[in-house]
Amino acid sequence: MKNTRYAIVGAGMMGQEHIRNIAMLDNTSISVIVEPDAGMLGSATTLARSLGSDKITTSTSIADVDWHTAADAIVIVSPNHTHCEVLCELMPLNIPILVEKPLCTTTGDLQRIESLMAERSAPVWVAMEYRYMPPTAKFIADIAAGRIGQLQMLSIREHRYPFLEKVGDWNRFSEKTGGTMVEKCCHYFDLMCLITQSEPVRIFCSGAADVNHQSERYNGRTPDIIDNAYTIVDFSNGMRCALDLCMFAEGSEPQETITAIGDAGKLEARIPGPDRFWPDAPPRHAEVAFMPRAPQPPIIEPVVVDEALLAAGDHHGATYYQHQKFLDTIRHASPVEVTIQDGVRAVAIGIAAEESIRTGQAVSLS
Ligand SMILES: NC(=O)c1ccc[n+]([C@@H]2O[C@H](COP(=O)([O-])OP(=O)(O)OC[C@H]3O[C@@H](n4cnc5c(N)ncnc54)[C@H](O)[C@@H]3O)[C@@H](O)[C@H]2O)c1
Repeated sequence: MKNTRYAIVGAGMMGQEHIRNIAMLDNTSISVIVEPDAGMLGSATTLARSLGSDKITTSTSIADVDWHTAADAIVIVSPNHTHCEVLCELMPLNIPILVEKPLCTTTGDLQRIESLMAERSAPVWVAMEYRYMPPTAKFIADIAAGRIGQLQMLSIREHRYPFLEKVGDWNRFSEKTGGTMVEKCCHYFDLMCLITQSEPVRIFCSGAADVNHQSERYNGRTPDIIDNAYTIVDFSNGMRCALDLCMFAEGSEPQETITAIGDAGKLEARIPGPDRFWPDAPPRHAEVAFMPRAPQPPIIEPVVVDEALLAAGDHHGATYYQHQKFLDTIRHASPVEVTIQDGVRAVAIGIAAEESIRTGQAVSLS
């Protein structure tokens, strides 16, 4: 089988997770790494070589790469506020692209990217890894198969550790992340749209930056990123969803709880955080619990993930499973599962949630 060569644009924490996961796929290699930070460029190149990629073009700039011969696919893993400019440079090449979430950070960016998409035929896949975490994937499949009857309510709770430190501290200000509701909550808004199979119509969010990063200063400025919020999203088919986010709850177990209630029962996915943050804890597994509308104990099914996949990243193997499907799209033109439209929708809900926090009003989406 022909080797598929990947370019990594942005090779920090998540870029290196992509490198580790691509290395586990058959007949693949890293052929290009674009990374402006010398330290990250060095460590990512060493990592890719150690995993078997021997012909790697390295560069600090997209403009210096001969893209017509360099790669069969591009993975964009630069900071959120750079996604739109990077896409504007790379989308006209018509090479398959996997772009990290959030697709972009502003409404103007959304329009630019949608118009570029109209001029290309090669696929663009938005990296919404949470769809591919094994417990979430089982949860989604069980609901789609009718296990809880007709879905009525969906709630997601994430209680976790604060934002990590990033190269150049880009994640400390909303102008670069899009705001917390865009930056990390786009994953959850994407899950809501996928599970309800419906369009979001109204968003109300109450949140603030109350605890984390308040003593940090960057060029004299205090970070403005929200660390706790409640969001309600109404959908056009009448379903309602809620998100409960707290980022000063490191000791929470599980880290994420996703609950769906239908007219025939309730389903809950319980997902622990990354083991590397709990080094002394005994092995923890995700589980999916089914609770029928009857006075009987829940049926709890553990979801065990392969150790090698767990070790390749922080996302319960999701990055690997997503790459398997993206590779199928590159090689066999199988359909893109997370489209530009999905990426746009998730960012639009996040932008509306940030606006709702600022104004104190519910925001309607057309
Ligand atoms: N899907 C997920 O679950 C998930 C998890 C973590 C991060 N992410 C996303 O991945 C992206 C990167 O996050 P990270 O945690 O790796 O941050 P990071 O700071 O560790 O890495 C970003 C890297 O991009 C480089 N960079 C900056 N500008 C660039 C440009 N114009 N072109 C190429 N490289 C550039 C930086 O030097 C840095 O090394 C973000 O969009 C983030 O939201 C997604």
